[in-house]
Amino acid sequence: MKSLLVNDIKKTFKLSKKQQKIEQTSDTKKIALKGVSFEAKPGEIFGLLGPNGAGKTTALRCIATLIKPDSGDISVDGYGVQHDSNEVRKRIAFLTNEMKLEDHFTPNYLFRYFSKLHKVDPKEAEKRKEYLFNRFGIDKFQEVKVADLSTGMKQKISIAISLVHDPDYIIFDEPTNGLDVLTARTVIDYLLEMRDAGKTVILSTHILNVVEKLCDRVGIIIEGEMKALDRLENVQNMAKDNSLETLFFELVEQSAVNEHV
Ligand SMILES: Nc1ncnc2c1ncn2[C@@H]1O[C@H](COP(=O)(O)OP(=O)(O)OP(=O)(O)O)[C@@H](O)[C@H]1O
Ligand SMILES: [Mg+2]
Repeated sequence: MKSLLVNDIKKTFKLSKKQQKIEQTSDTKKIALKGVSFEAKPGEIFGLLGPNGAGKTTALRCIATLIKPDSGDISVDGYGVQHDSNEVRKRIAFLTNEMKLEDHFTPNYLFRYFSKLHKVDPKEAEKRKEYLFNRFGIDKFQEVKVADLSTGMKQKISIAISLVHDPDYIIFDEPTNGLDVLTARTVIDYLLEMRDAGKTVILSTHILNVVEKLCDRVGIIIEGEMKALDRLENVQNMAKDNSLETLFFELVEQSAVNEHV
């Protein structure tokens, strides 16, 4: 029962005139997900790998109950995202680059605010804050306003805050995007630690190296379709030279060819 199941989700967005212009298309709709399925289990890191616009963020936002898929279903430990969204939210952490921390608050304030929001016992929240702030080197900056902090520090604070309620499912959209190698390493090490503690980690990325270093299982998503889905070594074995990079380019190319047929 303990797993996250995504079953055949589809999502189409209506495009406004402005979006049509940005996307350089006369289409009034964009099919972001064309029936995506996968499962993520405790003690595993699942990587959703795909180029820009593939549908990664859309899929993760559906799981995080922020948007509804048009069809298909998603469940977390047996709770459906549509009908039991509160139970789902209790169990997941969701982090995306679109979420911005308010400039004029301090890490201490934000952590306490979000612990209250998640109804975490205040004593427990203080303990978690101590642990996470120490783990991510936030200690020294606890009382510094967000506006005065570096990009990497802001990202680490966002991560710490997303984990206030000690969730079993950690869903991170491009967690190392824009981070220097040292900060990225801190984040990667933490995700490995969470996996080893039996949590389920789901991350999206377009960086092959992150997948190769980190993921136990991988799904390659292109143009809203899952093109490969298996254990990392099995996916690598799909390429002539056992390289994820070769396979990734092949799949992207195939998809571009199919588009023009
Ligand atoms: N709210 C929206 N309205 C209209 N189109 C959208 C919306 N959200 C996403 N899309 C479109 O759906 C497609 C998939 O977007 P999505 O953000 O899921 O891709 P992604 O794989 O996360 O890409 P990236 O690597 O650039 O973050 C894109 O073509 C995008 O423009
Ligand atoms: Mg995205």
